[in-house]
Amino acid sequence: MTTAAERNLTWHDVVIKRKDIEELNSHRGATVWFTGLSGSGKSTVADYVARMLHERGVRTAILDGDNIRQGLNNDLGFAPADRTENIRRIGEVGKLFTSFGTINLLAFISPYIADRDNARKIQADGDFVEVYVDAPLAVAEERDPKGLYKKARAGIIPSFTGISAPYEAPEKPEVHLHTDKQTPEESALEVIKKLEDMGIVPAQ
Ligand code: ADX
Repeated sequence: MTTAAERNLTWHDVVIKRKDIEELNSHRGATVWFTGLSGSGKSTVADYVARMLHERGVRTAILDGDNIRQGLNNDLGFAPADRTENIRRIGEVGKLFTSFGTINLLAFISPYIADRDNARKIQADGDFVEVYVDAPLAVAEERDPKGLYKKARAGIIPSFTGISAPYEAPEKPEVHLHTDKQTPEESALEVIKKLEDMGIVPAQ
């Protein structure tokens, strides 16, 4: 890629800095990246975390794969290159939200380790919290909240993650949830405990 200078771009430094917003909010900005199979519980746990943090006066923003694919990323499908571009864009959006002092909760299957690592690399250490929302495929398929596994098994949906497309589990996530054994509330509390331990939100 050409450099910014070669493209006649300069960086505009904003006047109100991230630290100013964080002081106003009394908490840090960070990306909390939920990854896991469809039906593993990413969106459910993200919702619980958002509600619990909201009650504490913490500013959150949820970006969810199903929603983002109906707007910002409505030009992308599920081929590997499209998923990579989906995650690249969302990684950049997450970085922006972090710079605005918001706890951004990103719920995307994000099946490739390399894509998640790239999203991590563009943020500072301690600003990216990877949460592996782990449910065995059999459990996710049994839940099948949107009836998609059934369609995938019937061959109606091609390249479906876990059935006919790969999912690469995180090797060292900051949080490893087991949603087949934990309630959504227990999972959310585990995430929030990690945010407290990392100094992202004040401990209660
Ligand atoms: S990702 O792989 O690119 O990270 P993303 O999280 O944005 O996926 O979108 C996943 C959602 O799209 C699923 O929860 C499901 O509702 C829907 N979906 C439709 N087709 C597929 C497919 N082939 N594989 C996985 N999810 C699909």
